[in-house]
Amino acid sequence: MYSQLPAFLLYTVLLLPSLGPCATVSALPSLNLNLRPRLPKVSLPATWSGSARDAGLSSLLPRAGAWVKRAAAASGSSSFEYDRNGTSFLWVIQDTYAGKTFFDRFGFYSDSDPTHGTVTYVNQSTAFSSGLAYVTDDNKVIMKGDNTTWLPEGAYRNSVRVSSYTQYNTGLFILDVDRAPWGCGVWPAFWTLGGGQWPYTGEIDILEGVHDNQHNQVTWHTGPNCTLTPTNFTGTIVDNLDCDCSNNRNSNAGCGVTEWSRASYGPTFDAQGGGVFAMKWDDQGIAVWSFYRAAVPADVINGTPNPSSWGEPVAALDPSGCDPLTNFVNHSIIFDITFCGDWAGNSYATSGCPGTCAERLMDPSNFVNASWIINTLKVYKKQIITGQVSAAAAPSSPPGPSAFWWVIALLLSTTGLLL
Ligand SMILES: *[C@@H]1O[C@H](CO)[C@@H](O)[C@H](O)[C@H]1NC(C)=O
Ligand SMILES: *[C@@H]1O[C@H](CO)[C@@H](O)[C@H](O)[C@H]1NC(C)=O
Ligand SMILES: *[C@@H]1O[C@H](CO)[C@@H](O)[C@H](O)[C@H]1NC(C)=O
Ligand SMILES: *[C@@H]1O[C@H](CO)[C@@H](O)[C@H](O)[C@H]1NC(C)=O
Ligand SMILES: *[C@@H]1O[C@H](CO)[C@@H](O)[C@H](O)[C@H]1NC(C)=O
Ligand SMILES: *[C@@H]1O[C@H](CO)[C@@H](O)[C@H](O)[C@H]1NC(C)=O
Ligand SMILES: *[C@@H]1O[C@H](CO)[C@@H](O)[C@H](O)[C@H]1NC(C)=O
Repeated sequence: MYSQLPAFLLYTVLLLPSLGPCATVSALPSLNLNLRPRLPKVSLPATWSGSARDAGLSSLLPRAGAWVKRAAAASGSSSFEYDRNGTSFLWVIQDTYAGKTFFDRFGFYSDSDPTHGTVTYVNQSTAFSSGLAYVTDDNKVIMKGDNTTWLPEGAYRNSVRVSSYTQYNTGLFILDVDRAPWGCGVWPAFWTLGGGQWPYTGEIDILEGVHDNQHNQVTWHTGPNCTLTPTNFTGTIVDNLDCDCSNNRNSNAGCGVTEWSRASYGPTFDAQGGGVFAMKWDDQGIAVWSFYRAAVPADVINGTPNPSSWGEPVAALDPSGCDPLTNFVNHSIIFDITFCGDWAGNSYATSGCPGTCAERLMDPSNFVNASWIINTLKVYKKQIITGQVSAAAAPSSPPGPSAFWWVIALLLSTTGLLL
């Protein structure tokens, strides 16, 4: 989500093929057959279209799914991870947002949209009473744009934007959704935003796109002194001319990376039954992965995530160019769905969508796919392992019982006592 206006000009600049400072090191995905399969492996040629593309993708799914299961079983679904300095650790659960209690821990934002969307963000009581936010009997969390009200041209459509009360400084954030919003004129995002003055405490856009795009875009926005370096990730840098993530460059565009996979956003992602987005933020940097449903790794499903087993991320901000602890502070987790505005509005004419964005907003049936259907959002924190059970208790706040027993079990199993 751009918190401030990016100029329309930007979207023109971004389309130019370029060789700039960011292109001096290749950011192209490398082929490593030993890596766990992930989205780009089943991405299809850009020349494929329509049903041929979808049919092709579906036919690849069972194979990819089996691959993942076999690989996960071979490696074990839980194991220690290692910091660059050799410290071993686990990711243990800190917060679970799901089901009936989901909205207890999110505040509804009902001010005007800073990205100039043609949207009215409703407060909690209106969201609940008008069916824009609710939890289903089978515990799916729904947040959506209004798809029942006809509007005159130029009117604002109701929608929701929520922000977690808890703020984070590092963590592993794993979102599991059946569907993410999309559609002509629709601009959703799942992102985190620093407390205090934007952009000095940073913004991390994990899932974001417009219209019926199929490629997710990951973007960082920061104060000065943060640069995206083309390290090992599979996505494509949006603007190769300028990898400065700060707001004083590039008309606030930040530094973005587009996922290679066609199943990372919009119709194709939803058609797979959605999937999982993961963002890892620690002193080693910030990285994002996405997995459509059949490719979700077993360790994620089991609640024992081990990002080092997931292969290269789709996007990563390396600490060599950007200090992940000083540029990103006190982050809340945000979901929103806006319409038109700085991105979906300014790109509408070239999007292939019919009419104008304002016309598109009139008919509620254009927004049947503008919905989040969320299974869980889990936040994990690092648990340093020193080899002694007593060291498993975190200095700040002790892990829950399940995390504690995980650590015990792992220590026992590594010494052969359980096996
Ligand atoms: C290694 O890095 C981690 C994370 O910054 C830190 O907590 C730990 O103390 C470091 N360990 C050593 C042995 O330097
Ligand atoms: C929520 O919004 C509605 C519609 O704007 C308004 O009437 C109501 O007073 C608001 N409720 C609260 C608690 O702010
Ligand atoms: C982050 O939050 C803490 C605790 O509320 C506060 O003391 C600190 O000033 C905040 N930092 C920034 C940069 O806003
Ligand atoms: C990229 O990965 C290769 C192979 O694993 C490694 O040798 C190299 O250091 C990595 N580069 C960066 C910038 O992390
Ligand atoms: C800019 O960041 C680098 C590394 O991320 C750090 O060493 C340097 O002190 C920072 N400079 C300023 C002015 O904050
Ligand atoms: C909603 O999604 C379905 C299934 O992909 C698609 O057929 C339909 O055209 C979409 N409707 C809109 C308004 O985007
Ligand atoms: C609105 O969208 C939801 C899906 O989010 C769908 O179940 C419902 O039927 C739609 N309502 C109308 C009136 O089209």
